[in-house]
Amino acid sequence: MSSLAVSPPERLRTPLMVPQRHMFGPGPSNVPPRILRAGANPVIGHMHPEILEIMADIQGGIQYLFQTRNPVTLVLSGTGHTAMECAIFNAVEAGDSVLVAVNGVWGERAADIAERIGARVNTIVGSLGGFFTNAEIEEALIKHRPVLFFLAHGESSTGVLHPLDGIGQLCHKYDCLFLVDSVASIGGAPVYMDEQGSHATCFESHAGG
Ligand SMILES: Cc1ncc(COP(=O)(O)O)c(C=O)c1O
Repeated sequence: MSSLAVSPPERLRTPLMVPQRHMFGPGPSNVPPRILRAGANPVIGHMHPEILEIMADIQGGIQYLFQTRNPVTLVLSGTGHTAMECAIFNAVEAGDSVLVAVNGVWGERAADIAERIGARVNTIVGSLGGFFTNAEIEEALIKHRPVLFFLAHGESSTGVLHPLDGIGQLCHKYDCLFLVDSVASIGGAPVYMDEQGSHATCFESHAGG
Protein backbone atom coordinates (compact mmCIF):
# COMPACT_ATOMS: atom_id res chain seq x y z
CA MET A 1 0.00 0.00 0.00
CA SER A 2 1.36 3.43 -0.93
CA SER A 3 2.00 6.03 1.79
CA LEU A 4 -0.68 8.68 2.41
CA ALA A 5 -0.50 11.60 -0.03
CA VAL A 6 -1.71 14.12 2.57
CA SER A 7 0.18 14.25 5.86
CA PRO A 8 -1.45 15.42 9.11
CA PRO A 9 -0.91 19.17 9.58
CA GLU A 10 1.98 19.82 11.95
CA ARG A 11 -0.15 22.24 14.02
CA LEU A 12 -2.59 19.47 14.93
CA ARG A 13 0.22 17.78 16.87
CA THR A 14 0.21 20.64 19.41
CA PRO A 15 -2.61 21.27 21.93
CA LEU A 16 -5.26 23.81 20.86
CA MET A 17 -4.79 27.19 22.50
CA VAL A 18 -7.75 29.61 22.33
CA PRO A 19 -7.07 33.12 23.69
CA GLN A 20 -9.29 34.92 26.20
CA ARG A 21 -11.22 37.70 24.45
CA HIS A 22 -13.83 40.06 25.85
CA MET A 23 -16.95 39.96 23.68
CA PHE A 24 -19.59 42.62 24.20
CA GLY A 25 -21.80 42.13 21.11
CA PRO A 26 -25.15 40.31 21.11
CA GLY A 27 -23.27 37.05 20.40
CA PRO A 28 -21.12 35.06 20.60
CA SER A 29 -20.54 35.89 24.23
CA ASN A 30 -18.04 34.98 26.94
CA VAL A 31 -18.85 31.72 28.69
CA PRO A 32 -18.76 31.62 32.50
CA PRO A 33 -16.13 29.17 33.90
CA ARG A 34 -18.91 27.12 35.55
CA ILE A 35 -20.39 26.40 32.10
CA LEU A 36 -16.97 25.65 30.58
CA ARG A 37 -16.32 23.13 33.36
CA ALA A 38 -19.70 21.48 32.70
CA GLY A 39 -18.68 21.06 29.05
CA ALA A 40 -15.59 19.11 30.15
CA ASN A 41 -17.75 16.30 31.62
CA PRO A 42 -17.56 12.84 30.04
CA VAL A 43 -19.77 12.08 27.06
CA ILE A 44 -22.40 9.43 27.86
CA GLY A 45 -24.99 7.70 25.72
CA HIS A 46 -28.46 9.07 25.10
CA MET A 47 -29.99 5.95 26.72
CA HIS A 48 -27.98 6.12 29.96
CA PRO A 49 -30.31 6.86 32.89
CA GLU A 50 -28.15 9.80 34.00
CA ILE A 51 -28.80 11.62 30.73
CA LEU A 52 -32.54 11.53 31.37
CA GLU A 53 -31.96 13.14 34.75
CA ILE A 54 -29.74 15.80 33.17
CA MET A 55 -32.38 16.48 30.49
CA ALA A 56 -35.06 16.81 33.18
CA ASP A 57 -32.85 19.26 35.10
CA ILE A 58 -32.30 21.32 31.93
CA GLN A 59 -36.05 21.35 31.28
CA GLY A 60 -36.69 22.60 34.83
CA GLY A 61 -34.12 25.35 34.35
CA ILE A 62 -35.69 26.45 31.09
CA GLN A 63 -39.18 26.44 32.60
CA TYR A 64 -37.79 28.75 35.28
CA LEU A 65 -36.08 31.00 32.71
CA PHE A 66 -39.30 31.38 30.71
CA GLN A 67 -41.56 31.31 33.78
CA THR A 68 -43.72 28.55 32.35
CA ARG A 69 -45.23 25.34 33.69
CA ASN A 70 -45.78 24.05 30.16
CA PRO A 71 -44.69 20.38 30.16
CA VAL A 72 -43.84 20.67 26.45
CA THR A 73 -40.61 22.53 27.12
CA LEU A 74 -38.01 21.13 24.76
CA VAL A 75 -34.32 21.69 24.24
CA LEU A 76 -33.12 21.55 20.64
CA SER A 77 -29.46 21.32 19.75
CA GLY A 78 -29.16 23.91 17.04
CA THR A 79 -29.12 27.55 16.12
CA GLY A 80 -31.83 30.16 16.63
CA HIS A 81 -33.01 29.43 13.09
CA THR A 82 -33.49 25.79 14.09
CA ALA A 83 -35.85 26.84 16.86
CA MET A 84 -37.74 29.27 14.60
CA GLU A 85 -38.10 26.65 11.89
CA CYS A 86 -39.11 23.94 14.36
CA ALA A 87 -41.78 26.12 15.97
CA ILE A 88 -43.25 27.29 12.65
CA PHE A 89 -43.08 23.89 10.90
CA ASN A 90 -44.81 22.15 13.78
CA ALA A 91 -47.58 24.70 14.21
CA VAL A 92 -48.41 25.63 10.61
CA GLU A 93 -49.63 23.64 7.62
CA ALA A 94 -49.70 24.59 3.95
CA GLY A 95 -52.64 26.91 3.30
CA ASP A 96 -52.85 28.14 6.91
CA SER A 97 -53.01 31.87 7.53
CA VAL A 98 -49.96 33.20 9.39
CA LEU A 99 -49.45 36.74 10.64
CA VAL A 100 -45.95 38.12 11.08
CA ALA A 101 -44.94 41.43 12.64
CA VAL A 102 -42.10 42.81 10.55
CA ASN A 103 -40.04 45.63 12.03
CA GLY A 104 -36.64 44.21 11.16
CA VAL A 105 -34.79 41.21 9.80
CA TRP A 106 -36.26 38.55 12.10
CA GLY A 107 -39.86 39.18 11.16
CA GLU A 108 -38.84 39.02 7.49
CA ARG A 109 -37.06 35.73 8.14
CA ALA A 110 -40.07 34.20 9.94
CA ALA A 111 -42.33 35.26 7.04
CA ASP A 112 -39.88 33.60 4.65
CA ILE A 113 -39.90 30.33 6.60
CA ALA A 114 -43.71 30.25 6.74
CA GLU A 115 -43.97 31.07 3.01
CA ARG A 116 -41.70 28.17 2.14
CA ILE A 117 -44.08 25.70 3.74
CA GLY A 118 -46.95 27.13 1.72
CA ALA A 119 -48.67 29.19 4.41
CA ARG A 120 -50.70 32.26 3.45
CA VAL A 121 -48.46 34.84 5.05
CA ASN A 122 -49.71 38.30 5.96
CA THR A 123 -47.54 40.90 7.57
CA ILE A 124 -47.94 44.02 9.59
CA VAL A 125 -45.00 46.16 8.66
CA GLY A 126 -43.53 48.73 10.98
CA SER A 127 -40.68 51.12 10.49
CA LEU A 128 -37.18 49.89 11.28
CA GLY A 129 -36.69 50.73 14.93
CA GLY A 130 -40.47 50.99 15.42
CA PHE A 131 -42.95 48.77 17.24
CA PHE A 132 -46.63 47.78 17.06
CA THR A 133 -49.43 48.85 19.37
CA ASN A 134 -51.79 46.19 20.70
CA ALA A 135 -54.60 47.92 18.77
CA GLU A 136 -52.68 47.49 15.49
CA ILE A 137 -52.03 43.85 16.29
CA GLU A 138 -55.67 43.22 17.18
CA GLU A 139 -56.83 44.84 13.94
CA ALA A 140 -54.55 42.52 11.94
CA LEU A 141 -55.68 39.46 13.92
CA ILE A 142 -59.31 40.29 13.12
CA LYS A 143 -58.53 40.89 9.45
CA HIS A 144 -56.36 37.82 8.77
CA ARG A 145 -57.56 35.30 11.41
CA PRO A 146 -54.17 33.57 11.51
CA VAL A 147 -53.37 30.26 13.19
CA LEU A 148 -50.07 31.75 14.34
CA PHE A 149 -48.75 35.23 15.10
CA PHE A 150 -44.97 35.78 15.13
CA LEU A 151 -43.28 38.63 16.95
CA ALA A 152 -39.58 39.24 17.65
CA HIS A 153 -39.22 40.23 21.30
CA GLY A 154 -35.63 41.37 20.86
CA GLU A 155 -35.35 42.57 17.23
CA SER A 156 -31.56 42.44 17.17
CA SER A 157 -31.31 44.03 13.71
CA THR A 158 -32.67 47.31 15.08
CA GLY A 159 -32.20 46.96 18.84
CA VAL A 160 -35.92 47.16 19.62
CA LEU A 161 -37.23 45.31 22.68
CA HIS A 162 -40.91 44.84 21.87
CA PRO A 163 -43.46 45.00 24.72
CA LEU A 164 -45.27 41.66 25.13
CA ASP A 165 -47.99 42.50 27.64
CA GLY A 166 -51.52 41.90 26.44
CA ILE A 167 -50.57 40.36 23.09
CA GLY A 168 -50.84 36.75 24.25
CA GLN A 169 -54.32 37.51 25.57
CA LEU A 170 -55.29 38.95 22.16
CA CYS A 171 -54.02 35.80 20.46
CA HIS A 172 -56.09 33.66 22.83
CA LYS A 173 -59.13 35.83 22.07
CA TYR A 174 -58.75 35.18 18.32
CA ASP A 175 -57.77 31.51 18.72
CA CYS A 176 -54.26 31.96 17.41
CA LEU A 177 -50.87 30.66 18.61
CA PHE A 178 -48.41 33.33 19.75
CA LEU A 179 -44.79 32.65 18.75
CA VAL A 180 -42.19 34.90 20.34
CA ASP A 181 -38.58 35.06 19.14
CA SER A 182 -36.55 35.78 22.24
CA VAL A 183 -33.22 34.64 20.79
CA ALA A 184 -31.61 38.00 21.48
CA SER A 185 -33.56 39.01 24.59
CA ILE A 186 -33.91 36.06 26.96
CA GLY A 187 -31.79 36.45 30.05
CA GLY A 188 -31.42 40.18 29.37
CA ALA A 189 -35.09 41.11 29.62
CA PRO A 190 -37.79 39.26 31.56
CA VAL A 191 -40.14 36.89 29.75
CA TYR A 192 -43.13 35.56 31.69
CA MET A 193 -44.41 33.08 29.17
CA ASP A 194 -47.48 31.77 31.05
CA GLU A 195 -48.50 35.18 32.36
CA GLN A 196 -47.95 36.84 28.99
CA GLY A 197 -49.87 34.06 27.26
CA SER A 198 -47.24 33.11 24.72
CA HIS A 199 -47.63 29.58 23.32
CA ALA A 200 -44.13 29.08 22.05
CA THR A 201 -40.92 30.93 22.54
CA CYS A 202 -37.77 30.20 20.64
CA PHE A 203 -34.44 31.17 22.03
CA GLU A 204 -30.87 30.24 21.57
CA SER A 205 -28.10 29.82 24.06
CA HIS A 206 -25.17 31.39 22.23
CA ALA A 207 -22.43 29.35 23.92
CA GLY A 208 -23.61 30.36 27.38
CA GLY A 209 -25.05 33.69 26.31
C1 LIG B 1 -33.73 37.90 17.15
C2 LIG B 1 -33.00 36.77 16.49
N1 LIG B 1 -33.71 35.72 16.04
C3 LIG B 1 -33.11 34.68 15.44
C4 LIG B 1 -31.74 34.63 15.25
C5 LIG B 1 -31.13 33.45 14.55
O1 LIG B 1 -30.17 32.81 15.31
P1 LIG B 1 -29.00 32.00 14.58
O2 LIG B 1 -28.15 32.97 13.84
O3 LIG B 1 -28.26 31.31 15.69
O4 LIG B 1 -29.65 30.99 13.68
C6 LIG B 1 -30.95 35.71 15.69
C7 LIG B 1 -29.50 35.73 15.49
O5 LIG B 1 -28.83 36.72 15.69
C8 LIG B 1 -31.60 36.81 16.33
O6 LIG B 1 -30.90 37.87 16.77
